[in-house]
Amino acid sequence: MKPNPDSDDDEVMTTHNSAHRTPHSAPHTPHTALRTPHFPAVAIDGPSGSGKSTVGKAIARALGYLYIDSGAVYRAVGLKALETDTSLEDSHAVAALAKEASIKLEGDPDHLRVFLDGRDVTDDIRLPHASRASSVVATIPEVREAVVKKLREMSHERGVVMDGRDIGTKVFPDALVKIFLDASINVRARRRCEEERERGRDVTVEQIGVELEERDRRDTERAATPLVKAADAIFIDTSDMPLDRVIDQVLEIIMTRS
Ligand code: DC
Repeated sequence: MKPNPDSDDDEVMTTHNSAHRTPHSAPHTPHTALRTPHFPAVAIDGPSGSGKSTVGKAIARALGYLYIDSGAVYRAVGLKALETDTSLEDSHAVAALAKEASIKLEGDPDHLRVFLDGRDVTDDIRLPHASRASSVVATIPEVREAVVKKLREMSHERGVVMDGRDIGTKVFPDALVKIFLDASINVRARRRCEEERERGRDVTVEQIGVELEERDRRDTERAATPLVKAADAIFIDTSDMPLDRVIDQVLEIIMTRS
Protein backbone atom coordinates (compact mmCIF):
# COMPACT_ATOMS: atom_id res chain seq x y z
CA MET A 1 0.00 0.00 0.00
CA LYS A 2 1.26 3.47 -0.88
CA PRO A 3 0.67 6.89 0.66
CA ASN A 4 -1.76 9.14 -1.18
CA PRO A 5 -0.01 10.00 -4.47
CA ASP A 6 -2.07 13.20 -4.64
CA SER A 7 -0.51 14.64 -1.53
CA ASP A 8 2.82 16.26 -2.22
CA ASP A 9 3.19 17.50 1.33
CA ASP A 10 3.47 14.03 2.85
CA GLU A 11 5.38 13.91 6.08
CA VAL A 12 7.73 10.99 6.72
CA MET A 13 8.75 10.00 10.22
CA THR A 14 12.45 10.35 10.84
CA THR A 15 12.78 11.16 14.52
CA HIS A 16 14.08 8.91 17.29
CA ASN A 17 13.07 8.08 20.82
CA SER A 18 13.18 10.55 23.65
CA ALA A 19 11.65 10.91 27.10
CA HIS A 20 8.05 12.06 26.93
CA ARG A 21 5.62 14.08 29.02
CA THR A 22 1.85 13.84 28.87
CA PRO A 23 0.11 16.21 26.48
CA HIS A 24 -2.20 17.26 29.31
CA SER A 25 0.73 19.14 30.81
CA ALA A 26 1.20 21.44 27.83
CA PRO A 27 -1.07 24.17 26.48
CA HIS A 28 -2.82 23.32 23.20
CA THR A 29 -2.93 25.40 20.06
CA PRO A 30 -6.68 25.69 19.52
CA HIS A 31 -6.89 26.08 15.75
CA THR A 32 -4.79 23.04 14.88
CA ALA A 33 -4.60 20.93 17.97
CA LEU A 34 -8.19 20.32 18.94
CA ARG A 35 -11.20 18.77 17.36
CA THR A 36 -13.35 20.08 20.21
CA PRO A 37 -12.55 22.90 22.63
CA HIS A 38 -11.24 20.39 25.17
CA PHE A 39 -10.23 16.98 23.90
CA PRO A 40 -7.38 16.05 21.55
CA ALA A 41 -7.65 13.17 19.08
CA VAL A 42 -4.88 10.99 17.73
CA ALA A 43 -5.79 9.38 14.40
CA ILE A 44 -4.01 6.18 13.37
CA ASP A 45 -4.87 4.85 9.93
CA GLY A 46 -3.50 2.06 7.79
CA PRO A 47 -4.28 -1.36 6.35
CA SER A 48 -4.81 -4.57 8.36
CA GLY A 49 -1.67 -5.83 10.03
CA SER A 50 0.19 -2.53 9.81
CA GLY A 51 0.35 -2.37 13.63
CA LYS A 52 -2.46 0.14 14.19
CA SER A 53 -4.14 -1.54 17.10
CA THR A 54 -0.92 -2.44 18.96
CA VAL A 55 0.36 1.11 18.52
CA GLY A 56 -3.03 2.72 19.22
CA LYS A 57 -3.57 0.79 22.46
CA ALA A 58 -0.07 1.57 23.74
CA ILE A 59 -0.46 5.28 22.97
CA ALA A 60 -3.86 5.41 24.68
CA ARG A 61 -2.43 3.61 27.71
CA ALA A 62 0.56 5.95 27.92
CA LEU A 63 -1.57 9.09 27.66
CA GLY A 64 -4.59 7.91 29.65
CA TYR A 65 -6.78 8.44 26.58
CA LEU A 66 -9.78 6.48 25.42
CA TYR A 67 -8.89 3.88 22.77
CA ILE A 68 -11.41 3.27 20.00
CA ASP A 69 -11.00 0.51 17.45
CA SER A 70 -13.25 1.83 14.67
CA GLY A 71 -12.94 -1.43 12.73
CA ALA A 72 -14.78 -3.16 15.59
CA VAL A 73 -17.83 -0.99 14.84
CA TYR A 74 -17.84 -2.00 11.13
CA ARG A 75 -17.37 -5.60 12.25
CA ALA A 76 -20.38 -5.35 14.58
CA VAL A 77 -22.51 -3.98 11.72
CA GLY A 78 -21.31 -6.81 9.45
CA LEU A 79 -22.09 -9.38 12.13
CA LYS A 80 -25.55 -7.93 12.68
CA ALA A 81 -26.27 -8.16 8.94
CA LEU A 82 -25.21 -11.82 8.91
CA GLU A 83 -27.18 -12.67 12.04
CA THR A 84 -30.36 -11.05 10.73
CA ASP A 85 -29.96 -12.69 7.30
CA THR A 86 -29.77 -9.26 5.69
CA SER A 87 -28.20 -9.39 2.25
CA LEU A 88 -24.88 -7.54 2.24
CA GLU A 89 -25.86 -6.32 -1.23
CA ASP A 90 -28.98 -4.59 0.13
CA SER A 91 -27.34 -1.30 1.03
CA HIS A 92 -30.54 0.35 2.33
CA ALA A 93 -31.32 -2.53 4.66
CA VAL A 94 -27.72 -2.72 5.93
CA ALA A 95 -27.65 1.06 6.44
CA ALA A 96 -30.88 0.85 8.45
CA LEU A 97 -29.29 -1.86 10.62
CA ALA A 98 -26.20 0.26 11.14
CA LYS A 99 -28.28 3.25 12.23
CA GLU A 100 -30.44 1.34 14.69
CA ALA A 101 -27.67 -0.87 16.14
CA SER A 102 -26.45 -0.10 19.63
CA ILE A 103 -22.68 -0.60 19.49
CA LYS A 104 -20.60 0.04 22.57
CA LEU A 105 -16.89 -0.37 23.28
CA GLU A 106 -16.14 -0.82 26.96
CA GLY A 107 -13.03 -1.33 29.07
CA ASP A 108 -9.44 -0.19 29.00
CA PRO A 109 -7.34 -0.49 25.82
CA ASP A 110 -6.06 -3.97 26.70
CA HIS A 111 -9.43 -5.40 27.64
CA LEU A 112 -11.76 -3.75 25.18
CA ARG A 113 -15.12 -5.50 24.93
CA VAL A 114 -17.54 -4.88 22.09
CA PHE A 115 -21.29 -4.96 22.72
CA LEU A 116 -23.86 -5.20 19.96
CA ASP A 117 -27.41 -4.47 21.12
CA GLY A 118 -26.31 -5.30 24.66
CA ARG A 119 -24.60 -8.63 23.79
CA ASP A 120 -20.86 -9.18 24.09
CA VAL A 121 -19.66 -9.90 20.53
CA THR A 122 -15.94 -9.31 21.15
CA ASP A 123 -14.96 -12.76 19.89
CA ASP A 124 -17.66 -13.21 17.25
CA ILE A 125 -16.67 -10.09 15.30
CA ARG A 126 -13.18 -11.56 14.72
CA LEU A 127 -14.48 -14.72 12.99
CA PRO A 128 -13.60 -14.93 9.28
CA HIS A 129 -17.19 -14.50 8.04
CA ALA A 130 -17.58 -11.34 10.17
CA SER A 131 -14.24 -9.98 8.88
CA ARG A 132 -15.38 -10.42 5.32
CA ALA A 133 -18.85 -8.96 6.01
CA SER A 134 -17.30 -5.92 7.72
CA SER A 135 -15.25 -5.02 4.68
CA VAL A 136 -18.32 -5.38 2.44
CA VAL A 137 -20.63 -3.24 4.62
CA ALA A 138 -17.84 -0.67 4.98
CA THR A 139 -18.18 0.08 1.25
CA ILE A 140 -21.77 1.39 1.72
CA PRO A 141 -21.75 5.21 2.07
CA GLU A 142 -24.83 5.33 4.37
CA VAL A 143 -23.25 2.72 6.65
CA ARG A 144 -20.10 4.81 6.83
CA GLU A 145 -22.13 7.91 7.73
CA ALA A 146 -23.89 6.05 10.53
CA VAL A 147 -20.61 4.63 11.85
CA VAL A 148 -18.79 7.98 11.69
CA LYS A 149 -21.62 9.51 13.75
CA LYS A 150 -21.32 6.74 16.35
CA LEU A 151 -17.53 7.10 16.48
CA ARG A 152 -17.75 10.83 17.10
CA GLU A 153 -20.40 10.30 19.78
CA MET A 154 -18.12 7.80 21.54
CA SER A 155 -15.31 10.37 21.69
CA HIS A 156 -16.87 13.22 23.61
CA GLU A 157 -15.56 12.57 27.09
CA ARG A 158 -11.78 12.79 26.89
CA GLY A 159 -8.74 12.57 24.67
CA VAL A 160 -9.05 9.72 22.23
CA VAL A 161 -6.79 7.50 20.16
CA MET A 162 -8.78 6.03 17.28
CA ASP A 163 -7.54 3.61 14.68
CA GLY A 164 -9.08 2.79 11.33
CA ARG A 165 -8.99 3.69 7.66
CA ASP A 166 -10.57 7.16 7.48
CA ILE A 167 -9.91 8.63 10.91
CA GLY A 168 -7.52 11.34 9.71
CA THR A 169 -9.43 12.04 6.50
CA LYS A 170 -13.04 11.88 7.68
CA VAL A 171 -13.76 11.14 11.33
CA PHE A 172 -11.31 13.66 12.85
CA PRO A 173 -9.91 15.80 10.01
CA ASP A 174 -8.57 18.24 12.63
CA ALA A 175 -6.92 15.59 14.82
CA LEU A 176 -3.98 16.69 16.96
CA VAL A 177 -1.76 14.08 15.30
CA LYS A 178 -2.39 11.86 12.28
CA ILE A 179 -0.31 8.76 11.71
CA PHE A 180 -0.47 6.46 8.70
CA LEU A 181 1.10 3.04 9.27
CA ASP A 182 1.90 0.56 6.54
CA ALA A 183 4.03 -2.56 6.06
CA SER A 184 4.72 -5.04 3.30
CA ILE A 185 2.02 -7.61 2.60
CA ASN A 186 4.30 -10.40 3.88
CA VAL A 187 4.92 -8.73 7.21
CA ARG A 188 1.24 -7.86 7.62
CA ALA A 189 0.17 -11.41 6.77
CA ARG A 190 2.67 -12.83 9.27
CA ARG A 191 1.42 -10.53 12.05
CA ARG A 192 -2.22 -11.33 11.34
CA CYS A 193 -1.46 -15.03 11.10
CA GLU A 194 0.09 -15.00 14.59
CA GLU A 195 -2.98 -13.22 15.97
CA GLU A 196 -5.33 -15.70 14.31
CA ARG A 197 -3.34 -18.67 15.65
CA GLU A 198 -3.52 -17.18 19.15
CA ARG A 199 -7.28 -17.17 18.68
CA GLY A 200 -7.12 -20.86 17.79
CA ARG A 201 -7.60 -20.55 14.04
CA ASP A 202 -5.49 -23.01 12.04
CA VAL A 203 -4.26 -20.82 9.19
CA THR A 204 -1.22 -20.33 7.00
CA VAL A 205 0.52 -17.06 6.19
CA GLU A 206 -0.38 -17.58 2.51
CA GLN A 207 -4.08 -17.98 3.32
CA ILE A 208 -4.08 -14.83 5.45
CA GLY A 209 -2.17 -12.99 2.70
CA VAL A 210 -4.95 -13.78 0.22
CA GLU A 211 -7.64 -12.59 2.68
CA LEU A 212 -5.70 -9.39 3.38
CA GLU A 213 -5.27 -8.61 -0.31
CA GLU A 214 -8.98 -9.05 -0.89
CA ARG A 215 -9.82 -6.69 2.01
CA ASP A 216 -7.10 -4.22 0.97
CA ARG A 217 -8.64 -4.07 -2.47
CA ARG A 218 -12.12 -3.35 -1.11
CA ASP A 219 -10.77 -0.79 1.39
CA THR A 220 -8.69 1.13 -1.15
CA GLU A 221 -10.95 0.88 -4.20
CA ARG A 222 -14.30 1.76 -2.64
CA ALA A 223 -15.77 5.11 -3.65
CA ALA A 224 -16.75 6.18 -0.11
CA THR A 225 -13.78 7.44 1.95
CA PRO A 226 -11.32 4.80 0.79
CA LEU A 227 -8.18 3.97 2.73
CA VAL A 228 -5.82 6.78 1.85
CA LYS A 229 -3.18 8.69 3.74
CA ALA A 230 -4.33 12.16 4.82
CA ALA A 231 -2.11 14.85 3.31
CA ASP A 232 -1.00 15.95 6.78
CA ALA A 233 -0.52 12.44 8.22
CA ILE A 234 2.93 11.17 9.14
CA PHE A 235 3.79 7.99 7.27
CA ILE A 236 5.62 5.21 9.08
CA ASP A 237 6.61 1.97 7.38
CA THR A 238 6.58 -0.66 10.13
CA SER A 239 7.87 -3.55 7.97
CA ASP A 240 11.32 -3.61 9.53
CA MET A 241 10.69 -1.71 12.72
CA PRO A 242 9.75 -3.27 16.08
CA LEU A 243 6.37 -1.88 17.12
CA ASP A 244 7.88 -0.66 20.44
CA ARG A 245 9.99 1.74 18.42
CA VAL A 246 7.00 2.88 16.42
CA ILE A 247 5.14 3.55 19.68
CA ASP A 248 8.03 5.68 20.99
CA GLN A 249 8.14 7.63 17.75
CA VAL A 250 4.42 8.31 17.80
CA LEU A 251 4.59 9.43 21.45
CA GLU A 252 7.42 11.76 20.57
CA ILE A 253 5.40 13.28 17.72
CA ILE A 254 2.44 13.81 20.05
CA MET A 255 4.64 15.57 22.58
CA THR A 256 6.02 17.94 19.99
CA ARG A 257 2.48 18.87 18.90
CA SER A 258 0.97 19.29 22.37
O1 DC B 1 -9.47 -2.76 11.22
P1 DC B 1 -10.36 -3.94 10.94
O2 DC B 1 -9.69 -4.98 10.10
O3 DC B 1 -10.92 -4.55 12.20
O4 DC B 1 -11.61 -3.35 10.10
C1 DC B 1 -12.66 -4.17 9.65
C2 DC B 1 -13.15 -3.65 8.31
O5 DC B 1 -13.75 -2.37 8.47
C3 DC B 1 -12.06 -3.47 7.26
O6 DC B 1 -12.33 -4.25 6.12
C4 DC B 1 -12.07 -2.04 6.87
C5 DC B 1 -13.28 -1.45 7.53
N1 DC B 1 -12.96 -0.18 8.19
C6 DC B 1 -13.22 0.97 7.49
O7 DC B 1 -13.62 0.93 6.33
N2 DC B 1 -13.01 2.18 8.09
C7 DC B 1 -12.53 2.24 9.34
N3 DC B 1 -12.34 3.44 9.91
C8 DC B 1 -12.25 1.05 10.06
C9 DC B 1 -12.46 -0.15 9.44
